[in-house]
Amino acid sequence: KPHDVVVVGSVNADLVVRVDRRPAPGETVLGSDLATHPGGKGANQAVAAARLGGRVAMLGRVGDDTHGEFLRGTLRREGVEVESVISTPGPSGVALITIGPDGDNTIIVSPGANRWLSEADIAGARPLLTAAAVVSLQLEIPIPTVLAAARVAAEAGARVVLNLSPPDRLTDELLALCDPLVVNEHEAAFLLGSSQDLSGKPGPRWARALLALGPRSVVITLGADGAVVADGTDVEVVPSPKAEPVDTTGAGDAFTGALSWRLAVGDDLATAARFAARVGAAAVRREGAQGSYPTLEEVAEP
Ligand code: RIB
Ligand code: NA
Repeated sequence: KPHDVVVVGSVNADLVVRVDRRPAPGETVLGSDLATHPGGKGANQAVAAARLGGRVAMLGRVGDDTHGEFLRGTLRREGVEVESVISTPGPSGVALITIGPDGDNTIIVSPGANRWLSEADIAGARPLLTAAAVVSLQLEIPIPTVLAAARVAAEAGARVVLNLSPPDRLTDELLALCDPLVVNEHEAAFLLGSSQDLSGKPGPRWARALLALGPRSVVITLGADGAVVADGTDVEVVPSPKAEPVDTTGAGDAFTGALSWRLAVGDDLATAARFAARVGAAAVRREGAQGSYPTLEEVAEP
């Protein structure tokens, strides 16, 4: 297979300001100087996998503005194949991000060009998708496009990894193609809704409830507490190394990108998740999303 991972998804410019506290409606607060970073959940996954050494291609859309040039350029410099990053009239995707004193974030995404990634784009990229070991997906592009990508991938025997971020409803068909479905605690709660008794911490019981919705396997990321991994036969909790959070933006994308790469090169799900948790922990220790992602050397077991 020419690519370990083909990421189909969003490419955004992240406009980041650090604040001591967030404004209430009608209020103004002063923050730090503006930082502009490459981001987008799709591009973040791609860079995470490429920086670890994966062979990665990106399918997405950027605008014909200065952000678009910047975003394509940073992907290329990271070693991600960008032939299928399509230039689109109008603005690129932008994320307005605030970082609080604890490294926590709020994000408003303006989809821009990401909104126009279409089922026709998927059809046009069929050779790319069918030649991937893993196709990695998230939800900042239209859901019909996500479904089309998952269908093409699955038909060709590529493994479909889908991060339910930002959370949205999936059809039963799309859920059934996810192997795994990757969710954090909030996304898990969103999917399980009131149908489940969600008292207590997310754990194996949550993972089994998610599996019952139809995905082939499930990973629930728990930040500092690691991840719960479930497939048809086993449920396992894998640990995360300790990390003082500086900026958690894109840590989930780093996890999913790393997971996709390890699955592509043959790890079983629990082994891949254990590795991905190390990558996610490394990512929260530094500023930004892609800029904080580790190389393979940095996450090697001591
Ligand atoms: O998951 C983090 C990402 O979400 C940011 O890079 C931002 O672009 C938004 O898409
Ligand atoms: Na970070």
